[in-house]
Amino acid sequence: SVMGEIMGISDLEIKLRDKLGINYVVISKKVNESKDMITDGVAKSAAKYILKNLNPHDKIAIAGGTTMRQVAYNLKSDKAYEVDYSNLIVMPTRGSVGSDIEIQANSIAASFAKNLGAQVEFLYVPDELDGSARETLMSIPDVKRTLDHLRVSDKVIFSIGRADVMAKRRGMSYEDIEKLKAKGAIGEAFGYYFDKNGEIVMKLNTVGIDIDMYKNAKDSIVVFAGSDKVDSFLALYKLNKNLTLITDEDSAKEILNKL
Ligand code: F6P
Repeated sequence: SVMGEIMGISDLEIKLRDKLGINYVVISKKVNESKDMITDGVAKSAAKYILKNLNPHDKIAIAGGTTMRQVAYNLKSDKAYEVDYSNLIVMPTRGSVGSDIEIQANSIAASFAKNLGAQVEFLYVPDELDGSARETLMSIPDVKRTLDHLRVSDKVIFSIGRADVMAKRRGMSYEDIEKLKAKGAIGEAFGYYFDKNGEIVMKLNTVGIDIDMYKNAKDSIVVFAGSDKVDSFLALYKLNKNLTLITDEDSAKEILNKL
């Protein structure tokens, strides 16, 4: 495209950052067309950025999903071994979801921490619990401590999803999927489904980071690959501009075109 020819990646990063009004943008240069390669490139850029910006005493909250799994996996590097991260704490942004253990935030927090030699705190509280069961679990000292740490986390690292994709992945009922559609849900993050204006239209009953904690987070980093998530991002970023975006080149250009 014309834009790609006249603009280098770092120009594009700055332009996108300024237009979005967020803190920082990292764009993974396009080298290959396949979806897996794009995700891998973005995850590697994210891992590099994270390693550069971690402080040895940080409390890090990390979400679930395939993107975050790749980010955690790519934290293996010389830098990770040079620094003593034994006082850094990694936590999942929320309790477990569904049955796919590989992409649950707890598992990803564990591999993230393992690659750094950091500590991990888990949140083993299932989603979709009702009132009293939820209250009881949340009063367990370990769970309380993790929730307190989440509230003061130094970095919140997460991805976003398309509302329809996430509803399907979570096995949402037909009625709820119809409700979601009717409400114009477009994106999802932290168990919240939002519409194109960033208004929350539905939420999961989860334990972990809630939308106020996200809005008040000291530093948040959203990582996504694939332009099918651009509209979700354009809705999400309105919630909190205290944000770093890490994405692929095509998505970055599409965001610019849509702004
Ligand atoms: O289910 C956890 C979660 O972080 C969601 O909040 C998000 O929409 C999704 O995973 C992203 O998953 P993926 O990286 O696989 O697209």
